Amino acid sequence: MKEETKLHVEEHEKHLLLDHNYDGLQELNHPLPFWWQFTFYGGIIFGAIYLAYYTIGGGPSLRQEFNKDYAFIAAKVEDFKKRESQFDPAVFATYNTPEGIDKGRTVFEVNCIACHLEKGTGDIGPNLTDNFWINSKGSPETNYPVIFNGVVEKGMPIWSEVLSKEEIYQVVAYVQTLHNTFAPNGKAPQGEKVE
Ligand code: HEC
Repeated sequence: MKEETKLHVEEHEKHLLLDHNYDGLQELNHPLPFWWQFTFYGGIIFGAIYLAYYTIGGGPSLRQEFNKDYAFIAAKVEDFKKRESQFDPAVFATYNTPEGIDKGRTVFEVNCIACHLEKGTGDIGPNLTDNFWINSKGSPETNYPVIFNGVVEKGMPIWSEVLSKEEIYQVVAYVQTLHNTFAPNGKAPQGEKVE
């Protein structure tokens, strides 16, 4: 073998020389770096634990994790709605003014007359000019949550999804002016009589 093709091995590498000779080629067996071995064996151990936990260890399924997250979000939304649908008499007072009522009339004309008719005499929705009420007691604080949350199963939309709080307060103030006006040709009373 020519001198220049001969394997050159440093003194401190001698112990790494493999005991093979492939047609005159020899190899040094350098150990893999620690970080490489750590991630490799760590990955195997992690994978084994992960697999065992989610298959035989009773770990939650994707569906269960989704349901848990969803329930958490739903509870937050519920909380938010409850908080937001609180009627605030002080805030209402700021809208229960001639100007606020006038704005409420516009909100009513744009959004409500399709079901409650122009004068609030009722059609799909109940008569708002009499003294009978299904969900509320006809007062601002009892009308507010009905308008805010709607009565979806009966066809009254959730107005907090469409109107701002300001508009809801304004329309509550306007609805108040219809109360006990007993407009002619009104829909027959529904619900409980409120004196
Ligand atoms: C798509 C039809 C529809 C529209 C539009 C609608 N409502 Fe209603 N509304 C209803 C129905 C139906 C009810 C009765 C719900 C029930 O039977 O529990 C109702 C009930 C109400 C009540 C409670 C009445 C009671 O006797 O308890 C108020 C107040 C009210 N609506 C106000 C409004 C206002 C204000 C708007 C506009 C922002 C509006 N509604 C728009 C259908 C509608």
